Amino acid sequence: VKDSRIDGIKTKIRVVPDFPKKGIMFQDITTLLLDSKSFKDTIDLFVERYRDMNISVVAGIEARGFIFGPPIALAIGAKFVPLRKPKKLPGEIIFEEYELEYGSDRLEMHARAVDSGDRALVVDDLIATGGTLCAAVNLIERVGAEVVECACVTELPELKGKERLEGKPLCVLVEYR
Ligand code: PRP
Repeated sequence: VKDSRIDGIKTKIRVVPDFPKKGIMFQDITTLLLDSKSFKDTIDLFVERYRDMNISVVAGIEARGFIFGPPIALAIGAKFVPLRKPKKLPGEIIFEEYELEYGSDRLEMHARAVDSGDRALVVDDLIATGGTLCAAVNLIERVGAEVVECACVTELPELKGKERLEGKPLCVLVEYR
């Protein structure tokens, strides 16, 4: 995405070295949320991109996809579906496991929240290895819906998460390359 608002958004994301552990440059979007102009620009840029793409569901990834996903869903007239960490959803669920540096984690979705005819946008704050987004895409495709695109505010480019998505369209607002 090329837009004059992106530089402003970039300056509001705080980079915290060695958090939560040594070697990781944590991208802290809470400082972006403190600036209502930049927060609004972030949502507006996504809304401008997706409002005419016939998207029927926005799937947000816990936890920070719950901050950016719902305002986009409301603005484009799509339903919102939370993709959650284990044991949070009360209804019938399907799940996808994904590898972490040590061990694994899983994402869960209510089984009937997304239909086979849905056109989905997956939203998160950041792509690192791409494992989380991959699991999200698999969940949605398993019920027969189409993932139109994945959208992230920013990335950790050195982890090459884009490659893990195997050609799935990905939109990263604030890129570092
Ligand atoms: C972060 C981020 C993404 C994920 C990206 O979440 O918000 O969801 O990691 O990493 P990946 O591309 O390597 O899969 P985190 O694991 O910190 O969980 P949280 O949002 O629940 O704190």
